[in-house]
Amino acid sequence: MNIPAAASAPPARRLHGTIVAQTPVSSSMHRVEFDLREHVPFLPGQFCMLNLAGDLSLIFARPFSILATTGSRLALLYKVVGRGTARLREAAVGAPVTCLAPLGRPFPAPDPRPRLLLAGGVGLPPLLAWEARWGRPRDLCCAGGRDGGDLPWDLLGPAWRTSVDRAVALPAERPAFAGNVVELARSLLPTGAPPHVVLACGPPPLLRAAAALAAERGWDCLVSVEERMGCGYGVCRGCVVPRAGGDGYATACKDGPVFDVLDLDWARIGGGGGA
Ligand SMILES: Cc1cc2nc3c(=O)[nH]c(=O)nc-3n(C[C@H](O)[C@H](O)[C@H](O)COP(=O)(O)OP(=O)(O)OC[C@H]3O[C@@H](n4cnc5c(N)ncnc54)[C@H](O)[C@@H]3O)c2cc1C
Ligand code: FES
Repeated sequence: MNIPAAASAPPARRLHGTIVAQTPVSSSMHRVEFDLREHVPFLPGQFCMLNLAGDLSLIFARPFSILATTGSRLALLYKVVGRGTARLREAAVGAPVTCLAPLGRPFPAPDPRPRLLLAGGVGLPPLLAWEARWGRPRDLCCAGGRDGGDLPWDLLGPAWRTSVDRAVALPAERPAFAGNVVELARSLLPTGAPPHVVLACGPPPLLRAAAALAAERGWDCLVSVEERMGCGYGVCRGCVVPRAGGDGYATACKDGPVFDVLDLDWARIGGGGGA
């Protein structure tokens, strides 16, 4: 399936700005908003390379999917997993940042086929952005979390169905399927359901399960991969992923992060095991 080239998306710019808001949105996730002094147009699935400036700056910027932009404001969702995200969490309103954006190949705009959105963990922001920009009532949007506390309920509008590994800490009147997000989708789209195009973002096991579902049904499937990155624009080759058929490597930052699932060699991504 055709994925828009990065070149057809808005050009990347290096921007300087400040943090204007930091809010916890679940037990594990924070929403941070920056004022970058100019508008950053983006397409859902694109990301930015973010660094803190001054005392908190890191040698390498870190990649984050763009959740939303409004005027000169750009918002992300993040989880603290290591040094960079811990520093981001510590940074107060007013802290200076640098941001290279927008980067990478986005998810394509919709066609008449309904979409099945499958988001796990920090795979949620690009699919929230897709749904906000292009979502239609016939699309099915599924977000999975570890438990009820892990999901950012206030950001999940009525279009979103949810799944949890452990059915604890669920808010009143917000039911969630007990199981993973692909099992949730299978329960809502039994065999014989109309063909959907799958858009998935999350850890490799989720992407593999999404690929397996799409392969069984004969549906197209696009995934966004979250590799470690150095530069974010195709120079360092720190983010390569193996192409299918032994056809060399693609860069996640420039050739992706969105790929047709058939274009990658899943036996060699994220710990092995076929798609
Ligand atoms: C295109 C893209 C979009 C992303 N979007 C988001 C987002 O919207 N929100 C968000 O919270 N995170 C997102 N990530 C992941 C994010 O970049 C990493 O969590 C972040 O770089 C970790 O930095 P750190 O310094 O805190 O962790 P480090 O100290 O660098 O690493 C801590 C631990 O996290 C692991 N880790 C680091 N980077 C990644 C990664 N990319 N994927 C899997 N494991 C990793 C390391 O192996 C290590 O175990 C995205 C990654 C990519 C490539
Ligand atoms: S991060 Fe440098 S080539 Fe992809």
